Order: sequence, then C-alpha cells, then structure tokens
Amino acid sequence: MNITILGIESSCDDTSAAVIRDGIILSNVTASQAVHEQYGGVVPELASRAHQQNIIPVVDKALKDAGVAPEDLSAVAFTRGPGLMGSLLVGVSFAKGLALARNLKLVEVNHLQGHVSAHFIKRSADDDNQPRFPFLCLLVSGGNSQILLVKDYMDMEMIGQTIDDAAGEAFDKCAKVMGLGYPGGPLIDRLAKSGNPDAFRFAKPSIQGYDYSFSGLKTSFLYTLRDNLKLNPDFVEDNKEDLCASLQKTVIDILMQKLIKAAKDLKITEIALAGGVSANSGLRSAFEELHTRRGWRVFVPPFAFTTDNAAMIACAGYHKYLKGIFCDQTAAPFSKTTIK
Ligand code: KG4
Repeated sequence: MNITILGIESSCDDTSAAVIRDGIILSNVTASQAVHEQYGGVVPELASRAHQQNIIPVVDKALKDAGVAPEDLSAVAFTRGPGLMGSLLVGVSFAKGLALARNLKLVEVNHLQGHVSAHFIKRSADDDNQPRFPFLCLLVSGGNSQILLVKDYMDMEMIGQTIDDAAGEAFDKCAKVMGLGYPGGPLIDRLAKSGNPDAFRFAKPSIQGYDYSFSGLKTSFLYTLRDNLKLNPDFVEDNKEDLCASLQKTVIDILMQKLIKAAKDLKITEIALAGGVSANSGLRSAFEELHTRRGWRVFVPPFAFTTDNAAMIACAGYHKYLKGIFCDQTAAPFSKTTIK
C-alpha cells in the first residue's frame, strides 16, 4: 500500500508544502517572505499575513509537482511547534481544514524533530544513506542551537541547548551591526571566504555540560567594533572580510567543541547536522573534517533541506504514520522549545 503524506510547514517565515510517498520525496515547494528584509528580522504579524496569502498556492503547487490529487493522500502532517504562534496557526488551521474536508488522518510534527528527519528523506527507492541509531544531531538555526541524541525516528533527547542566543541569531545580529543586511548568516559566510579567520579574537563561553551560549561572543564582537570605530570610522568597511571570517570561526569552534565532547562522552561516532546554519560552508567543512581526521560517519543535509521546509515535516509525519501516531482536531500550536 502506498502511504502518501502532504507536509505543511509555517513555523517562521517560510510557507512550505511537500509530498512524500513511502518515504520518497515527490515535491517540495517553499515560498520565502522577502517582506522582512527591510526590517532586519522577521516581523511576526507580517509573517502570519504572508502565510495566509501563500498557503493555498504553495500546497496547490506541491500537489501538482508530485502528480498527486487530494484524494490520493493518506494523511496531512503539519508543524505544530515550536515557532511563531501566528505563523503556526495558519499551517495548523489549514491542515485541520483539509483533513476535515477530505476525511484524512492528521499528524502533528515537532519542528525540531522535523529538522532531524531531513536525514531520513529518500531521493529514490534505493536511497539508504541515512544515519544509524543512536546518533547525535547538531541542530543549528535562527532560533535553535541544540545537541540531540537521536535514539529512533521519534525518540530524541535534547542533551544540550543554548542558554541565550542561537548560533544563527549570533550571525544575524553581528551582521546587522555591521550593516550587512538580513539574514546575516549567508552574507557572513560569503565574506568570510576572503577574510583571515585569525585576524580578531572574540570571547568563547566556558559553561558546563553540552549547553551553548552565544551572547558573550556577540558582546565581545560589539566591543571590538566600538573600540576600533573610535580610532577609524571606516573600521567595519576596511575589515569586513576579516571580521566575518573571525566571527564564523569562533561560532564554529564553539559548536564543534561541545559536539565533539558529547560524542566522546557517549561514544557515538555517527554525527548529523541540521537547521538553517548547516548551510554554512565553514561548518560543513568542520563536519567533513570529523570524517577525514577521526573517521566518524557524518551526515550533512542537501542545501534544500537545511532551512525550513515541508519535506522534512512530511518525512517525520510518514514515520509517525507508520507507528500509528495521529492527532485530532483539538491539536493547537505551541511556541515553546521542546523536542516532544
Ligand atoms: O532553519 P532556519 O531557516 O529557520 C530559523 O530558525 O529561522 O534558519 C535560518 C538561520 C538564519 O539565522 C540564517 O542567518 C542562518 O540560518 N543561515 C546561515 C547560512 N544560511 C542560513 N548561517 C550561516 N551561514 C549560512 N550559509
């Protein structure tokens, strides 16, 4: 029997829909929201309004691209949280409405579990290149920086997380004070390629366990700008590449240090990367090094599945479907970070 899942993702500023059949991706359509660029960050109210406009055409295109009619669907999987409440409400309400109208099963998906599930998406029937359980997943995005111990498709434990800013947030905020634009991560990544990563030294946190902190790095970055701008008003312009390269190196060092510690402590050498920041070329290279230097098995997602996308939600929904885990029309969105 074919199991065909429509996935819907609307947790932040991307409206996405995807269709997965028996774990194999058939389509993945995402409408990004340019409206936030002028504000240097996501404006929640504008995000919800854009989701309202995008959701029907995006779902329509995902079904058409997949060659699937609504009556062919087995279930609708949707992101229930964590995320922005107004944004989530659009996807959750749409999913519930469609399920009701078409008499479809409903599957709620935790957005963070969705990011991990990006590693289980099959490109073809014989695609079996996925991490073996248990593995560690470094989940880094604009809102999250976590180390997850993944024991099974739906059994994940958060063993470390940021106590303040997320890694992507650190990139975005530092890019903002340099006047680079939004989102800052890709811009910093590009400029860092022609800079010296050892030109500047920024603070690294020293906290216990596997938790992260990026607010000290952000403050020391700001102090470096403030002190140097007093001496040279063109300091940022003159040193953009070196500032970006040094910042990027520090973020990666912080992320990798805790991840390697966790891997050694737990004796796990199967390591995956997920979330928007996994598009970062320096971080991807650091992962490749885990393989070349230590012989660990590493899994870095294709670019299409790094940022928010519905393919990962449909994939997580597929594995929940197989286990018979469904929800009903009372499922309400939640904003708080949790992995359950
Ligand atoms: O997962 P995601 O799309 O959603 C949110 O959590 O918002 O992640 C977006 C984050 C942003 O902070 C963005 O700056 C960062 O991912 N990002 C990058 C790169 N591409 C996106 N950070 C560093 N380097 C990149 N190449």
